[in-house]
Amino acid sequence: MLIKSPSDIPSSEITPESIYNSRREFMRGTMSAAALGVGIAAAPDLLAAPSQVVDKDLPGPDWLKQQIAAAKTNQEKISENLTPYEHVTGYNNFYEYGYDKTDPAAKSHVLKPHPWSVEIAGEVAKPGTYTLEDLLKGVNLEERIYRLRCVEAWSMVVPWVGFPLADLIKRFEPTGNAKFVSFTTLKRPAEMPGQKSSFSTIDWPYREGLRMDEAMHPLTILAVGLYGKVLPNQNGAPLRLVVPWKYGFKYIKSIVKIEFTEKQPKTTWSMIAPDEYGFYANVNPKVSHPRWSQAEERRLPSGLLRPNIVPTQMFNGYADQVAHLYKDMDLRKYY
Ligand code: MTE
Repeated sequence: MLIKSPSDIPSSEITPESIYNSRREFMRGTMSAAALGVGIAAAPDLLAAPSQVVDKDLPGPDWLKQQIAAAKTNQEKISENLTPYEHVTGYNNFYEYGYDKTDPAAKSHVLKPHPWSVEIAGEVAKPGTYTLEDLLKGVNLEERIYRLRCVEAWSMVVPWVGFPLADLIKRFEPTGNAKFVSFTTLKRPAEMPGQKSSFSTIDWPYREGLRMDEAMHPLTILAVGLYGKVLPNQNGAPLRLVVPWKYGFKYIKSIVKIEFTEKQPKTTWSMIAPDEYGFYANVNPKVSHPRWSQAEERRLPSGLLRPNIVPTQMFNGYADQVAHLYKDMDLRKYY
């Protein structure tokens, strides 16, 4: 569906198109090289179609469903097709559930994301453990339609429902020493089979981080929903980060801890392969991954017959809004 003016179209009225069901065009994805211990993917992941039947009647408390239903529609104009719901929720990276793109949808139903709480720690005046309900109390949710560009060179356009991370940060009153924000995903091997896998090279829990000005940027949101519905488990329920000018691995899922630090925090992929995945991870078509070009991307849905290749944009198309954050930095060094 071509989105001409998303602000006019509530996400609840956007029905994923059934024409994308030509799944025989697709083959299963190449085995992720992460499983082999060499990185997120050996090469831009070529294929894979969602094979799971996704339950759209997602569980979640009524207060959250009501808040999501009341979300303001997107203010940003984006004249691109939305990626159909079944691809957004059926083609995922969430290594806690396995390395195959279909593992998260197949295996994450075991997790119960409600009730949920998040620990706020470090350089803030108001540390503590807050329930999801506390965190969302009085928050006006918004729909944000953003491009998501994975470092593996595939991309989507997703109608998230969330709120600015900056609004949450202000509530905890960071001290003058808070230069970075670090995020941690749930570690619960009993419900997350990938955390038990002997193939895993990840030092669980999954960790990510942002510089304070990146975290406070108005484009940066915490998402609790997509397509006008509660966030599915495979997409990081109940709370995940969305930073649209960065590669997808920064969008940490199922967050249980947010810590404010003076020093740059350690992040999962930069610990595994620092020469391939940096802390900044800004989308940059001019800086290749050591094993593949980042000049283009495969926009989902994509198949062998219609790969749907589009040029990658600097800062994923958000340069006007974020380039100033990096104006004195060598982006080849700080990738
Ligand atoms: N968060 C956690 N906890 N574990 C992960 O494996 N994968 C990341 C990111 N967040 C990941 C994660 C990667 S590599 C990408 S591309 C995005 O989630 C994918 O988000 P999606 O599955 O909702 O498209």
